Amino acid sequence: MNLGEIEKKVLEKIKPRREEYELLMKAYRKIESTIYKILEKHGVKAEVTLQGSVAHDTWLSGERDLDVFVLFPKEWSIEELRSRGFSILLEAAEEIGNYSIRYAEHPYVRVILDNVQADLVPAFKLDSPKEVRTAVDRTPFHTKYVNEHLDEELRDHVRLFKRFLKGLGIYGAEVKVKGFSGYLSELLIIKYGGFHDVISRAAEWKAPVFIDMIGDPGIFRVLRKKYPESVMYVPDPVDPARNVAAAVSLYSLATLVIASKCYRVNPCIEYYYPSTSDLEIDFSFIDNRCIVLVTLESSEFSKLPPDVLWGELHRVTDRAVKLAERFGFNVMDWSNWTDEERIAVIGLEVDECSKEYPKLYQGPPYYSSKRVLDFISKHVFKGSIGPWIRRDGLLLALGSRKYVSIRDLLIDRTWEYLVAPHFRGLTPRVYILGEDPFDVLKSMDRDWVVGFVFKRRDWINCCIR
Ligand code: UTP
Ligand code: MN
Repeated sequence: MNLGEIEKKVLEKIKPRREEYELLMKAYRKIESTIYKILEKHGVKAEVTLQGSVAHDTWLSGERDLDVFVLFPKEWSIEELRSRGFSILLEAAEEIGNYSIRYAEHPYVRVILDNVQADLVPAFKLDSPKEVRTAVDRTPFHTKYVNEHLDEELRDHVRLFKRFLKGLGIYGAEVKVKGFSGYLSELLIIKYGGFHDVISRAAEWKAPVFIDMIGDPGIFRVLRKKYPESVMYVPDPVDPARNVAAAVSLYSLATLVIASKCYRVNPCIEYYYPSTSDLEIDFSFIDNRCIVLVTLESSEFSKLPPDVLWGELHRVTDRAVKLAERFGFNVMDWSNWTDEERIAVIGLEVDECSKEYPKLYQGPPYYSSKRVLDFISKHVFKGSIGPWIRRDGLLLALGSRKYVSIRDLLIDRTWEYLVAPHFRGLTPRVYILGEDPFDVLKSMDRDWVVGFVFKRRDWINCCIR
């Protein structure tokens, strides 16, 4: 379990200092006492608890997030929890500081106090995870499990692993990332006994990945049936029929696997901390390429929970890729980004921005009588080149394209890709890098744009032997 020089260096940066613990605990105590006061005022008996990475002691220095779960009597109905429980937390939040209402599976309140951000989540106080009624009810059992299985040393290994995942951009289960959650990171460290052990295992993974957390290989079948889309299966030790890795995408999995293979050969700091490159958007990288940015603006975006917005944006991006391919553009890469306020961007890289060459239409096989005649008539009337029978026996024609330019296609056929509720009807602007003015880039995340153009992540440069 010995850590290398780089890892020790990283750990020094991410291990919180005593003052940081004190700052968080001070904020927590204020929050705790305020909530208890409001609970008493309403004559409600509930327990205020600290959960998540601060309770697990696996948080990273610099983070100022508390997960405060208020556990209400299990005799209450879910509706009661969401109305009565929630309004008590709201009342407490008003007294604590600036707050906003958030939605996950059910509503919670986010408050800011002394630079500390706390999520106040209403849940049930249960005796066993078998009684779980809402997704958040498992959380106190996670805390218990993690604290029973992590010692001082392993907590540092969790911190390292989380920093590694963050550097790779695959930390977090939210729809934006579809990566590895904090709890999943903890479970992997618990299972394999250290950071290097997790990396060594991950280097050999291939989907579907199954991690037997509970000594029951049979649960794999159950999870596969319940989560047919997942690429990774990790039964939750406190509730084995739930897949902790349900959110992990093939992108996140592949990124961890490849980075792990590379890291074992040559570890370097860039995995943990990609240099926020001063790399200007270098025009020479754009030469001979066609990078298209479709921007979509709506004041509605800020009103949506980020998971909903990102989910819609992923869907719309997917459809734009399919549309471009269907019209003959070879899509080499795609990505997307949103400020979660008013702008969303789809990035596409295609082989050519305008396809001057006519399109090759393939006819039916020669033995298919009626369709052969239809194909020939159609193309003769259209004025195509051919039709002709090529030396390999295929019936072909070269005809005109409906869309020569990717820009026209994306402006014209919006109904075919702006298919999500909050994107339908929006008017896209299409920018082609190198062709159109760059000022549009100012409203976008520079790292995203640079990443999409430059493509090679910093850590890839360490992956050489
Ligand atoms: P957080 O997302 O805050 O994660 O969820 P975390 O473990 O505290 O890690 P960081 O440091 O903030 O990133 C808090 C708790 O909610 C449950 C887990 O029990 C977690 O510890 N949770 C959250 C899940 O079970 N699944 C999720 O996808 C997210
Ligand atoms: Mn947290």
